[in-house]
Amino acid sequence: MTRKKVLATAAAALTITLGLAACGSGGGIDGGDGDDIDVTSADTVWRLAFNQTEEHPQYLAAVELGEALYEATDGRYGIEVYANELLGTQADVVNNVSEGSVEMMYIGGPVMESFNEDFIVFNLPYMFASQEAQAGVFADTEVTGDLFASIEESKGITVLAALFAGVRNVYNAERPVVEPEDLDGLKLRVQQSDSQVRMIELMGGVASPMGQGEVYTALQSGVLDGAENNETVYNALNHDEVAEYYSYTRHLMIPDYLLMNTDILADMSDEDREAFQALIPDLVESANTGFLEFIDESIAASEEAGAQFNDDVNVEAFRERVTPLVEESINNPVRQDLFDAVQQYNEQFPAGS
Ligand code: GCU
Repeated sequence: MTRKKVLATAAAALTITLGLAACGSGGGIDGGDGDDIDVTSADTVWRLAFNQTEEHPQYLAAVELGEALYEATDGRYGIEVYANELLGTQADVVNNVSEGSVEMMYIGGPVMESFNEDFIVFNLPYMFASQEAQAGVFADTEVTGDLFASIEESKGITVLAALFAGVRNVYNAERPVVEPEDLDGLKLRVQQSDSQVRMIELMGGVASPMGQGEVYTALQSGVLDGAENNETVYNALNHDEVAEYYSYTRHLMIPDYLLMNTDILADMSDEDREAFQALIPDLVESANTGFLEFIDESIAASEEAGAQFNDDVNVEAFRERVTPLVEESINNPVRQDLFDAVQQYNEQFPAGS
């Protein structure tokens, strides 16, 4: 049994022994100075929905944010983080955030397209030349301001931050992928959005949109042949066990967003809200830095589990295949402006910069 599986089994056993219901992060976290901070004792405890594991840097950064918020507001606010898709798929939970029954969540970029399709620009294949170019775009409120404001008005959702979420590649149980033809007939899971379906079809595969939590079982039972994701998901969700060929198509670098219900944010006192917002840059820094380390650890762990990483991929052929998606998506002035802004950052921070 791998170390990860031993831990997972032990955690499952503990959950059963203690009879715990689904619960989030919370009580008794060591605040770093030896004092335990029980964020669930705050006057108001927000729930933050997350669809990945407790080892993920975004989870750890959110827990830190909850503790810092508790301290900054003298216990008026705390955040409890619910990992492993416990509160539902991103496509479902985002509606709860819109209504305010869940206060916060992390969400992958493509799922935002159902609220405002202009978000698609940041989810297109081969859009960002480098992580630095992507970070530049999301630090520039002149570029993102109107787009983000559009869903505050229409859906009551505020984008608190955009985060680096790795680079996505294809993996499957059948063979290494070198050319688009190698995807022929392979059924691959994609995130829940039309753009992602179209992308995989153009790349040569058969697309199957679904929430992340169902993917392992679908791979195991053969309903899916593979999926596309970064190395951390591949390892943390044990996809490496059931789809051993991971190939570096490098087709996507899409952000994750940290979202919050707009009214709940507005209801805070000015002082508390400012204190909260001042903590967000630390979350971004912590999550993004941690992500890079997490990738390296994930690759090593997957290799140990027997996965094969293939970097001999005709990336240019895939890039050419998806050009129609890029062209047909940049079809209004708003998207054109967003696209042009990305190109400026790409020039400033080209690949390998
Ligand atoms: C990544 C991303 C998530 C997304 C997931 C998925 O893990 O960070 O936000 O939900 O991929 O493919 O569903």
